[in-house]
Amino acid sequence: MKLDLATPIVAAGEDGVAKAVKCLRDGGLVAFPTETVYGLGCDAGNAAAIARLYQAKGRPSFNPLIAHVADLAAAERIGRFDGDARRLAASFWPGPLTLVVPKAEHCPVADLATAGLDTVAIRVPLHPVAQAILRGFGGAVVAPSANRSGHVSPTTAAHVHVDLDGRIQLIVNGGPVSVGVESTIVACFDQPVLLRPGGLPREKIEAVLGRALAQPVAADPTRPLAPGMLASHYAPRTKVRLEATHVEPGEALLAFGAAALPGVDATTVVMNLSEQGDLAEAAANLFGYLRALDAKGASGIAVMPVPRHGLGEAINDRLRRAALPRE
Ligand code: TXA
Ligand code: MG
Repeated sequence: MKLDLATPIVAAGEDGVAKAVKCLRDGGLVAFPTETVYGLGCDAGNAAAIARLYQAKGRPSFNPLIAHVADLAAAERIGRFDGDARRLAASFWPGPLTLVVPKAEHCPVADLATAGLDTVAIRVPLHPVAQAILRGFGGAVVAPSANRSGHVSPTTAAHVHVDLDGRIQLIVNGGPVSVGVESTIVACFDQPVLLRPGGLPREKIEAVLGRALAQPVAADPTRPLAPGMLASHYAPRTKVRLEATHVEPGEALLAFGAAALPGVDATTVVMNLSEQGDLAEAAANLFGYLRALDAKGASGIAVMPVPRHGLGEAINDRLRRAALPRE
C-alpha cells in the first residue's frame, strides 16, 4: 500500500470506522483508540502488513503482538482457554486485560505476529471505537501501542501523529483515552502469571482467581517471558529521577498529591499527576505528562513517590522503566 506524505486523521464516527475497516482489509496500518492507549492495528492474518507494522514502529520483529478481537467467541478461535483463562475473560472482558494462552489449532494469527511462539496474546478492548472497528473488520487485528519503538505509549491522536505521521495509512481520533496505561498481561498455562502490570489492578484479578498471581521466572534474562518488556521501553529523552523528596535547580517536577517539595518554588515546570492522590487519574495523565515534560528542555525530571497498590503497580513499573539508562 502506498504511503502518502501526511497521514490523515479522521474523527471516530461511522465514516471514520468504515475508513478504518476498509484500510485494514487492504493491508493498511490504522491507529485507533482503545481504553488503555492508542493501538496501531493491521490484519492479524496478513504477514506483509505485519512486516510493515514492525517497520513503521521501528520495532524488533522478535517482539510479539497482541491480537485484538471483539469478544470471547472470537478469542476462542485463536487461543485455547483453560478454566482460569475463561474465568478471567468472563470477569474482565471487554477491558484492560490481555491473556497469553496456547495457540488454537489453525490459529489465524500469522507466525510473524507471535514471533514464532506457540502461545498468543489476546485482548478484547472495551473502547466503543475499537469495538466498532473490530466488529466491522470481523477478524483479529494485531496492535501494539501506536508509538515509535522506545517512546512512551500514545494516549491521544496527537501523540500518534507526532510519532507516526507519514509512516501509517490512517489515524482514527476518538479523543483522549480513559485508562492511560497499557493492559495488564496474564499468562494462563499451569498457573496464572503476571507478565506485565497494567490498567487492570492485580488485586482485582487475584480476587477472581482466589489466589495470588505468580511472578514470571526469567531463567534467561535476555529472553524475558514478555519479550516486549525490554528494560528501558518507556523512554523520555530527559533523565528521570524517582522518589524525589526535593527538586534540584533546572529540574522539572512530576508531582503526585498535594504536598509541596523543597525547591519547587525555583522550577516553573510542574505537572501534577493527581492533586487528590487518585491513582486512576494519575494513570490517565502519566504518558501525556511525561511527553510534555520531556519537551521542556529541563535538566531532568524529578518524580514524587506514587503509592504501589492498585493502578500504582503499573504506574511505578512504567516510571521505573522511564528512569533506566538508555540501551
Ligand atoms: O493496552 C495494550 O495492551 C495496548 C493496546 C493497543 O491494546 N497494546 C500494547 O501492545 O501495549 P504492545 O505491543 O506495546 O505490548 C504487548 C506486550 C509486549 O510486551 C509483548 O512482548 C507481549 O505483549 N506479548 C505479546 N505476545 C506474547 C506472548 N505470546 N507471550 C508473552 N508476551 C507476549
Ligand atoms: Mg508498547
